[in-house]
Amino acid sequence: MNGRYKALWLDKEGNLVVLDQRALPFEKKSLAIKSAKECEDAIKNMTVRGAGVIGNCGAFGVYLAAREFKDDMTKFYQSAKSIQNARPTAVNLEWAVKRMLKKAKSANKNDLVSTLKEEALLICDEDAKNTQNIAKSAADLFEEIMKKKGKNDINILTHCNAGWLAIVDEGTALAPIYELKRRGVEVHVFVDETRPRNQGANLTAWELSQSGINYTIIPDNTGGYLMRQKMVDVCITGADRVSINGDVANKIGTYLKALAAKDNDIPFFVALASSTFDFDIVDAIKDMPIEIRDEDEIKSVKGLNENGDIVKVQIMPDNFSALNYGFDITPSRLITALITERGVCKADIKEIKNLYGDLL
Ligand code: MRU
Repeated sequence: MNGRYKALWLDKEGNLVVLDQRALPFEKKSLAIKSAKECEDAIKNMTVRGAGVIGNCGAFGVYLAAREFKDDMTKFYQSAKSIQNARPTAVNLEWAVKRMLKKAKSANKNDLVSTLKEEALLICDEDAKNTQNIAKSAADLFEEIMKKKGKNDINILTHCNAGWLAIVDEGTALAPIYELKRRGVEVHVFVDETRPRNQGANLTAWELSQSGINYTIIPDNTGGYLMRQKMVDVCITGADRVSINGDVANKIGTYLKALAAKDNDIPFFVALASSTFDFDIVDAIKDMPIEIRDEDEIKSVKGLNENGDIVKVQIMPDNFSALNYGFDITPSRLITALITERGVCKADIKEIKNLYGDLL
């Protein structure tokens, strides 16, 4: 069992430590989380973000809640519920908290804390294994595409951040990129900036640069033009919640990239593990919970001033009106395939049921 991943780990006292993703790419610093409330806040204020990692953080939050409230189970359950509701769209958070609560129900009172700690670590270990499987399947697929095109190199477009900052320990959409690099493939990534929080420019670009992978940050509106210029071989994103028929909720702007890809005959893949499926959702437009975030995220940007200090700058007057949906839904018809820890499948109900029948 592994207690340490790159995005989060446990310290000697058993506290959760996370990489503070708000400080990247300018500063790499970690933050110790000692209570369930601190965990809930870290998810809400996006110290940690990304579907898998908020699930992991939520799982550790339930363990921290047990550490604080093992003698007051009402408080324990209230605290777990608040963590579960910290962010609405990525189903991994709800999935992880529910799994932890199921474990809590079957645990002895004396062993509750240690049992929950082990379970949270196990979820991380499973996520890490899943990313390795996704990496292999996707890299095989990408190499086939290169072969068909007679190319030795590949240009991949991605949106938001679905790397190891989002899913331990290699990510979903970025896992195949790391795998291709290991296989010696010449890989280049177009990184959508991903306004308004710039997870692409701040996090994906940082991750890729740490691993020596060639990338180019592009404004969110550029991808369509690059596709028309045949500068993109494949698109790949992660997912926050996927319906039983393969519709995908992911970072706002994903849908527009999938539309452009379809219009240009460019394969559009979505990488995810089973914890990101919501098998109960049939009508995604009606039933996917889509987060609406503070308009302040649109009205300001974070950067370095001339003294090298990180500052927040307002880019429009206070009274201007803005609307900040965090996610959108890409219909399955625009998705070439889902790449999962169990292999590749079409984004349709039949193939999803075939692959995950045991979980339905
Ligand atoms: O708002 P965020 O930064 O948590 O959104 C994250 C994304 O949309 C990622 O692309 C997503 O979680 C999919 S990969 C785990």
